[in-house]
Amino acid sequence: MRIAIGADHGGYELKQQIADFLIAQGHQVQDFGTHSPESVDYPDFAAPLARAVVAGEFERGILICGTGIGMSIAANKVRGARAALCTDCYMAHMSRQDNDANILCLGGRVLGLGLALDIVQVFLNSEFLGGHHTRRIGKIRALDEERG
Ligand code: RB5
Repeated sequence: MRIAIGADHGGYELKQQIADFLIAQGHQVQDFGTHSPESVDYPDFAAPLARAVVAGEFERGILICGTGIGMSIAANKVRGARAALCTDCYMAHMSRQDNDANILCLGGRVLGLGLALDIVQVFLNSEFLGGHHTRRIGKIRALDEERG
């Protein structure tokens, strides 16, 4: 799978670990930065990654900051982005099944490595159910249009 990954300093270490894990699994991973633990601003990483995912350059995106909150708020400002902040595997599964999330947000200061990798696996391996959920995604798209 083509996967974009990005983080700020709060998610830098976990990003490196997740990227290594995904590459070892045979995924194509593009690292949008940050490339050091130095302090940076999370919207500078959320926006380019979200735009690239929405443009279809990647099948999924993963964004990590200290809590995952800033990344999810910023990514969801990009039209077509459905960024889901997940702290457990159930949320990751449902974010795909019901919400057709295209970006997973994680908290580097919230999750241990084992749980984070499990959440990533579930997010990548779960599929959108469609059906009545498609109508709801359509209503989210309408909100994007409304925003102009
Ligand atoms: C950076 O200190 C921190 O605010 C950021 O990583 C993130 O948690 C924001 O939501």
